[in-house]
Formats: sequence, C-alpha cells, structure tokens
Amino acid sequence: LRVVLLFGGRSSEHSISCATAGGILGAIDRDRYEVIPVGITRDGAFVLEADDPARYALDPAHLPEVVDNGTRVRWPESSASREVRVTDATGERSLGDVDVVLPILHGRFGEDGTVQGLLELVGLPYVGNGVLASAIGMDKHVTKTVLEGAGIAVAPWVTLTRAALAEEPELWQRRVHGLGLPVFVKPARAGSSVGVSKVSDWSELHAALDVAFAEDRTVLVEAAVVGREIECGVLEGRDGQGPRVSVAGEVVVTGRDFYDFEAKYLDAPGVDLICPADLGDGELFELRRIARRAFEAIGGEGLARVDVFLTDEGFVVNEVNTMPGFTPISMFPTCWLNSGLTYPELISELIEVGHA
Ligand code: DAL
Ligand code: MG
Repeated sequence: LRVVLLFGGRSSEHSISCATAGGILGAIDRDRYEVIPVGITRDGAFVLEADDPARYALDPAHLPEVVDNGTRVRWPESSASREVRVTDATGERSLGDVDVVLPILHGRFGEDGTVQGLLELVGLPYVGNGVLASAIGMDKHVTKTVLEGAGIAVAPWVTLTRAALAEEPELWQRRVHGLGLPVFVKPARAGSSVGVSKVSDWSELHAALDVAFAEDRTVLVEAAVVGREIECGVLEGRDGQGPRVSVAGEVVVTGRDFYDFEAKYLDAPGVDLICPADLGDGELFELRRIARRAFEAIGGEGLARVDVFLTDEGFVVNEVNTMPGFTPISMFPTCWLNSGLTYPELISELIEVGHA
C-alpha cells in the first residue's frame, strides 16, 4: 500500500507531530508500505519531506520542525482520482495513487476534523477519527458535555469566554470560586498541556486566564481531581467486534506541579510513566468499560487515548485524545506494547483499520 504520512501542522503541537513522524518512519513495515512523507509547515503549506527518521528526533534543545523547502504537494483534483502530485524546482510530477493517508497531527488544524474534512472532500481514505469525533475530542468543553450526556463522570468545570466575563464578572467569579481550589485553567482546544496552568491561590487566576486565552477564545476552569492519573489506548475493533482497550498506564507526578509540556517532552524530572499500572482486575475491567463507552460517545474511529483519574468514587474521565502522542516512548504505544502489539505492529494495525 502507498501511504501518505501527514505531519507537522499549524498548531502549538507541531514539533510533537514531527517527533511522531520520525518514530513511524523508523518503524513502519517497509515490505508492506511505501511511505510518502508530507509535512505541513507552521504556515499550512503541504511540502514533500525527506524520508529520514533521524531528522525528526525530539531533542529538547532543538524541537523538530517542517521547513518550507519550496515543494508543494497537490491533493487529487476530484474524488474520482487518488493521484497525489508534487511541484518542485524541476516542475510537476506524480507521486502515484495513494491508498491511505495517515494524519498524525496533533492540535488544531489537524486533530480537530479540519484535515479529516479535506481528505473526505478529495476522497482519500485516512486513518483515525472522522470529522465529528475529531472536532468533539479537540474541544475540552464539548468533550465533557458529550461524555456527561453519555453518563460518564467528568470533573466539574466552568467554561469562559472574554465576552461572558466582561458581561457578568460577578456571576462567573462566583461559579469559578465554587469549584474550590486548586483548579486547572485550560484552553478549550489545545493539547500537550500548552496554555494550561494550575491555580492554587485565586490571586493566580487572572494570569492563568491570560495564558489560556492566548491559545483559544474559549477557556475551561476545571476542579482539580484527587486521584491517580491513568491512561489507556483504544483501537477500533476488527471484523465487526467492538473497540479494543489496552492495559492501563499511569502517570506518577512526584516532584512537579503537574504533567506539563516540559515533563511530557523535554525530559524534565518529576514525572514517571508506569505501564502496566498497578490496578486490580475489577478496576481494569471497569476502566476498559468506561474507555469503550467514551470512545463510542464521541463516535470514535481508529484510535484514541482515554485519560482518566481513579478516585475514591471511581473513574473520572479527563479527556479523549483522538490522535495521541505516538512516538515509540509515548504512553499510547507503550500501553499497546504491554498488551501484545509492538510499535511496528501497532502502525500496521492502524493502517489496516483506516477508512474510505
Ligand atoms: N496531545 C498529545 C499529543 C497527547 O494527547 O498525547
Ligand atoms: Mg491531552
């Protein structure tokens, strides 16, 4: 099969997507798949990239990036064709007919349904969640609303816009303070903890809102949940079966405020990832049931990582990531490795369940 690996993109998680691309280029089964690496620059240009895993290593001192090399990848002109073309200094040429696109994009303009919509329009099959599930999963306010509607426990929260704050400041202050300290302040649509702050004193709220509003026009203030931070991988079922859920991983935060961007990607100390997490059989059974229900609730396809807290009252779902971090050491592949799927096998599995 000829696979377009689509990465980079116009979001604050551009470099994380590039790091995933490096991992996939280094591991994908080359006997089965011919790979066309297509990068999206921070400005949104589609460029033909080098098929070189080393180029996208996640080095804390130098985050990988798609640079505009002057080439332009052109999608099929109609849904009757699957031919992808490229223009470069030598002119225009065909890259052949594409069987499936693997969009490993994180954040807005990639994980949010926009790229999925583009691929639907040009009629190219792609891996992972469709337009609606991607759009729901991208927006933390909408995710929580949909999960709550499906009877899944979520942390109490208040959603704010600048306009609402300006119109009724006392009302919003009362509602936010009603959550109790500490709270997390998050942009509605962001990932990898970009723009997220923990507020342990109300005097810090204003600055935290500024940081979050810099990323999105809608911001959530969420009650901090006391519990263990557990994550698990979901894969779409095969042959008419329901979704499959991996074993659980645990994020253990010791010497830090929370599992922030630095801890996630820049080797900052204070956070350990443990997989498989130490859960009882009953707890794992319940986690899998809730993860499947969350995946179904957003209309999930392909894959997701469901992040939860294990509290004294049971599991509380934090979020559903429709394109989870996917480098070889990320939690999603680690959970599947401990469930019997190696990283290359996981990549093949995703491609095989890709959608027309
Ligand atoms: N948004 C990051 C990539 C994650 O959820 O893993
Ligand atoms: Mg996340």
